[in-house]
Amino acid sequence: MLRFILGFIGAVFAAVLLISFFSNLATYFRNPPAPLAAEVFHKEPREVHFASDGPFGKFDKAQLQRGFQVYSEVCSACHSLKMVSFRDLKQLGYNDAEIKKIASDWKTQVPSINPDTGEAATRKALPSDNFPAPFPNETAARAANNNALPPDLSLITKAREGGPHYVYSLITGYQNQPAELLRKFPDAKTPQNLHYNPYFANLNIAMPPPLTSNGQVSYADGTKPTVDQMAKDVAAFLVWTAEPNLESRHAAGIAVAIFLLIATILAYLAKQQIWTETHGPKAAVAPVGALDPKNQAKTRRAKVKSGVAG
Ligand code: HEC
Repeated sequence: MLRFILGFIGAVFAAVLLISFFSNLATYFRNPPAPLAAEVFHKEPREVHFASDGPFGKFDKAQLQRGFQVYSEVCSACHSLKMVSFRDLKQLGYNDAEIKKIASDWKTQVPSINPDTGEAATRKALPSDNFPAPFPNETAARAANNNALPPDLSLITKAREGGPHYVYSLITGYQNQPAELLRKFPDAKTPQNLHYNPYFANLNIAMPPPLTSNGQVSYADGTKPTVDQMAKDVAAFLVWTAEPNLESRHAAGIAVAIFLLIATILAYLAKQQIWTETHGPKAAVAPVGALDPKNQAKTRRAKVKSGVAG
């Protein structure tokens, strides 16, 4: 009796679950969820070539230097680069004296302590310091940016799908909100203090367009500082900050691939060599030793001679 009651309760539970599952399924198909503006108007990063792309990619040092210039003159007003130190710039081709000067001229100083009073103070940056953040803390950073936090850029090309392609597209992607969007989604108007950018996940980003005019920085190497060029250069620079050893990783990868290829060829040839007697064209196996018919005949004769054989 008890078993029957328990089974009945179980069956009722299962039935209720099934009914609610199918009724929800029916509602979903009869009345599908409305798409969001961000699903319809979001764009994938644009195609653009970087020297570091692909398994053979290398850094273009002149471009990295230009990108660093864009970072230091534009982006560093809001974004920190906490994981990179001034002396790392040596990899971009700067010498020790230049790096010392870049560090001591840096517009934000490094927090330190007054050696006489012990009070909080600041000092000029040294080559061994990491890039000082533009804001002393998150609250200050948010207060200066409409409550949005400018993320640290050290690893941003690893942290976002599309890496440098995304950063480039984002910086060059600001535009007016399409009329079609407002027609389809009247509620999705870009709020005040935000900026429409179809490459940003939710279409409205708190960062004001950082690169707005050609010639915003002036390049020493004669490259034309168009907005497009500056965006490409700073994106390339951020690939380097996220993975300074990309070139040696690529070189090691290629060496390993070549080694494996040669090892595979050798292994194949060795296999051919070892198995050729049984599987190759000369596969007839000659019996040797005690199995050789000649030896067997000899053995038999010897046995007969000595009277052992039956
Ligand atoms: C005026 C301050 C300011 C400047 C200058 C600035 N940014 Fe930003 N940036 C922000 C803020 C604020 C955010 C956060 C936006 C948000 O979450 O809506 C941001 C976000 C970003 C993001 C992350 C977007 C994401 O997917 O989360 C990237 C990448 C970025 N900025 C790159 C740059 C680069 C490169 C420069 C220089 C060319 C630059 N920014 C200059 C304020 C700034």
